[in-house]
Amino acid sequence: MDAGILNLLRDPAGVPFYPVVFQSLYVLTWALHALFVFLSLGSMGLSLYGGFKQKTDKNWEILTAHLLQTGKISVSLLIVLGVAPLLFTQVIYDPNWYTINTLSGLWVVIFIYCLLVGYSMYYWYYYANKKQSSVSKLVGTVAFLLLVFCGLIMHVFSVQAIQPEKWMQWYAPNGIVDTSGTNFHPETIRYIFFMILSIPVVGLFLQNYSDFLKSNKSFDEKFISFSRSVGTKISTFGFILSLIIFIFWTYSIDRLYDIFSIVIYLSFVSMILLSKKLNNSYISTIIFIVVLLLISAFREYIRYNIMNNLGYDIYQYPLNIEWASIIMFLLTFLSLGGVGVTFIASMAWKVGKNNGYFDASKDKMVTTMANILLWILSIWCIVYFAWGFFTLFKNSL
Ligand code: HEM
Repeated sequence: MDAGILNLLRDPAGVPFYPVVFQSLYVLTWALHALFVFLSLGSMGLSLYGGFKQKTDKNWEILTAHLLQTGKISVSLLIVLGVAPLLFTQVIYDPNWYTINTLSGLWVVIFIYCLLVGYSMYYWYYYANKKQSSVSKLVGTVAFLLLVFCGLIMHVFSVQAIQPEKWMQWYAPNGIVDTSGTNFHPETIRYIFFMILSIPVVGLFLQNYSDFLKSNKSFDEKFISFSRSVGTKISTFGFILSLIIFIFWTYSIDRLYDIFSIVIYLSFVSMILLSKKLNNSYISTIIFIVVLLLISAFREYIRYNIMNNLGYDIYQYPLNIEWASIIMFLLTFLSLGGVGVTFIASMAWKVGKNNGYFDASKDKMVTTMANILLWILSIWCIVYFAWGFFTLFKNSL
C-alpha cells in the first residue's frame, strides 16, 4: 500500500482543526477509555474469585458486592469514553479505520452483540450474586469472557489498522477477493499486555477504596486493612507482571531499547515501589494516570511512525478550519462535561463520606451545581437544535 492510495482514502473535506490537537485528544481519551476497561475487567475478575470465598469469609462478601458494583459502572463508562478516541481516530486516520471496518466487517457486528449480551449478562450476574443464586458464578464467568473477547476484537482492529502493507493480501488472498469480512489477525503479546494491566488497576482501586472508607463509621478497621492489604498485594504483583509482558512486547516489535520504552519500564518500576510503600494511594493513582497517558502515547507513537514511514503524515492532512464547530465542541466539553462530571463526582464522594446517607437537597454546593447543570443542559439543547436546523436549511433551501 503506497502513500498515494492512503492519501486518496482521506476525507476530501480535510480536517476541521489542527491534526496535532486531534492526536493529543486521541491519546488523552484513549487513556481514559483504557482506565475503565482495566477497572471493569479487573474488578469483575476479582469478584469472580470473591464469589468462591464469600461463603466463608465476611470480608470477601462485602468486597465482592462492591467490586461487582464498581465493574458495572465502569463498563458503562468505558463504553461512553470509547466513543471519543473512536471519533478522533476517524478524523486523522480515516483510511486505516474504515479499511479495517470493511476487511473485518463481520467482527464489527459480532463486537456489538458480544458487548450487548456480555453487559446484559453482567446485570444478571449482579442480581444473581445479590440473591446468592447458584448460577451467579457461571453467569459472571460467561459475561466476563464475553467482555474480554470484546477487548480482543477491539485489539484486532487496532493492530490490523497499522499494517497497510497486508491489506491487499487480506482483501484478495491469492488474487481472489474475499468479501466475508472475517479477517482476524491479533498480536498476542500486545493483547495480553493490555488485559494484564487490569490486575494492577484493580489493586490500586482497592487501595483507594480502603483510604476512602477510613472516615466511614459503617466499616470496621479490620475490613479496611484487609482490603488495603489485598490491594497492595494485587497491585505490586500486577505491576511486576505488566512490566515483564511490556518488555516482551517491545522486544517483539523491535523497540526494546527505544527511549520511549525505557521511560515506560522506569515508570513501571516506580509504580511497583509506590504501590508498595506509599501510604496515600490517591497520589499513586494520579501518578498511574500519567503512566497510562505514556502508554497511550506509546501506542500512538508506534502508529504515527509506521504510517509516516509509508508516506502518510497526519500533519499534512488538508486543513479546513471550522471555527463554529470547534467553539461548539469546546463549550460543550467545558461547560456540560466539566460541570456535569464535577457534579456527579462530588455527589458520589459525599455519599461515601456520609456513612452511606446523604441528603443532597440540604447541601448548598451540590444543589447549586445541580441547578447550574440544568440550565446549561437546557441552553445547550436549544443551541444544538437551533444551530443544526439553521445549518440544514441554510444548505438545502
Ligand atoms: C468491554 C468492551 C471493551 C473492551 C474490553 C475494550 C478494550 C480495548 C483495548 C484492549 C484496546 C486496545 C487495543 C490495542 O491497542 O491493541 C481498545 C482500543 C480501543 N477501543 Fe475499546 N474496548 C471495549 C469497548 C469499546 C467500545 C464500546 C468502544 C467505542 C464506543 C471502544 C473504542 C475503542 C477505540 C477507539 C480504541 C482504539 C482503536 C485504535 O485507535 O486503533 N472500545 N479497546
